[in-house]
Amino acid sequence: MLTTLWLLLCFALPVQESPFSISCPNHKHCQLALLSNNDIILHCNAPGAQWQFFRSLKSTWGSSSTTNLNMETMLNGSLLIKNPLPYHTGIYNCNDKDGKKVMRYEIDFQDVLTLRITHKDLDQKTLQNESLSLSSKELVFTHWEPWQDCNRCGVPGERKRLGYCYIQKSLENPIPCWLYLGDKKLWSSRLRPEMQVETCHIPCTLTDVEYVIFDNFQLRNKAGSARLTCPLGSIYRPVFWEANDLSLTWKDQLSGKSISTIMDTSNGGSWLQVFQPAIYRCFVHQELMAQFNSKATRKEKANSVLEGLNMMILVGMVLAVLGCLLKQFRFSQSRRINKMLLVK
Ligand SMILES: *[C@@H]1O[C@H](CO)[C@@H](O)[C@H](O)[C@H]1NC(C)=O
Ligand SMILES: *[C@@H]1O[C@H](CO)[C@@H](O)[C@H](O)[C@H]1NC(C)=O
Repeated sequence: MLTTLWLLLCFALPVQESPFSISCPNHKHCQLALLSNNDIILHCNAPGAQWQFFRSLKSTWGSSSTTNLNMETMLNGSLLIKNPLPYHTGIYNCNDKDGKKVMRYEIDFQDVLTLRITHKDLDQKTLQNESLSLSSKELVFTHWEPWQDCNRCGVPGERKRLGYCYIQKSLENPIPCWLYLGDKKLWSSRLRPEMQVETCHIPCTLTDVEYVIFDNFQLRNKAGSARLTCPLGSIYRPVFWEANDLSLTWKDQLSGKSISTIMDTSNGGSWLQVFQPAIYRCFVHQELMAQFNSKATRKEKANSVLEGLNMMILVGMVLAVLGCLLKQFRFSQSRRINKMLLVK
């Protein structure tokens, strides 16, 4: 009974979220492209920092405070932006306690809903360089990030890289498309971010067994589906899913072979839409993050728990919460240890 409670409570407690964090290579000012819909932390080493956000508004740069619901200044000064939209493209200034500017980020949140995904092994071609219709001097091209890690080890996996839309005028420095265009309304099917996937094969070096179990997920809505969220998953990290020990790949999805699951393209596959009960597991950076068991087999236990709710169980719940917290603590500890191993 305690085990079931423990599982139910672990399900209820939010899993440690750790959005992808960006810091500026030259430590003062940087201009970069990211994708919308994926949480991000902008690094600023100034405890008590105040952030300002400016965005392009009818040909002037309008100021907005960062008291927007989706932005949160953290204790260490960094800014967490949850679920950014293309509309959040603009300038982010970090000022210290005394109002002195510490950092300036110019960020283009490119619309993930227009993300173009291609798979090398399916011979799908990425976009070509094109000149912009405004003037032939402006070239639109995709600036590719480095390949992310392979999402599996020991067996064939897949790796992805993100490509952002940039515009280059003559020999000037290229600029992310929507920072360049500002409020100019221009539509072209070339103006979009890309993601490219290929097969990869790397040996295993880590063995990690700490992970979270999510029990009793149900196929709920009309379509009889459920959405599973991989803890720590992000479009900026390598994510991998399996269903009953079978790999789910972008290759199968892009070639229409997978029918009972859909990896959500807007977050690099961190969300999985499932249409059949099974045991699903997800991995981030090749480490097992979570296992999702479907409900059917657990029904009776859950009922008996509900019937016997009494003092004993309350005590059990307290213990379970403590257990969960301890587990989550160890979960983050082990993650840290692994990070250190990776560095070595
Ligand atoms: C600031 O705090 C957040 C949340 O506690 C953490 O994710 C981030 O890594 C921290 N940044 C630094 C530079 O310590
Ligand atoms: C596209 O343009 C970029 C930026 O000018 C350049 O680095 C790249 O080599 C070009 N690619 C091709 C295929 O011409």
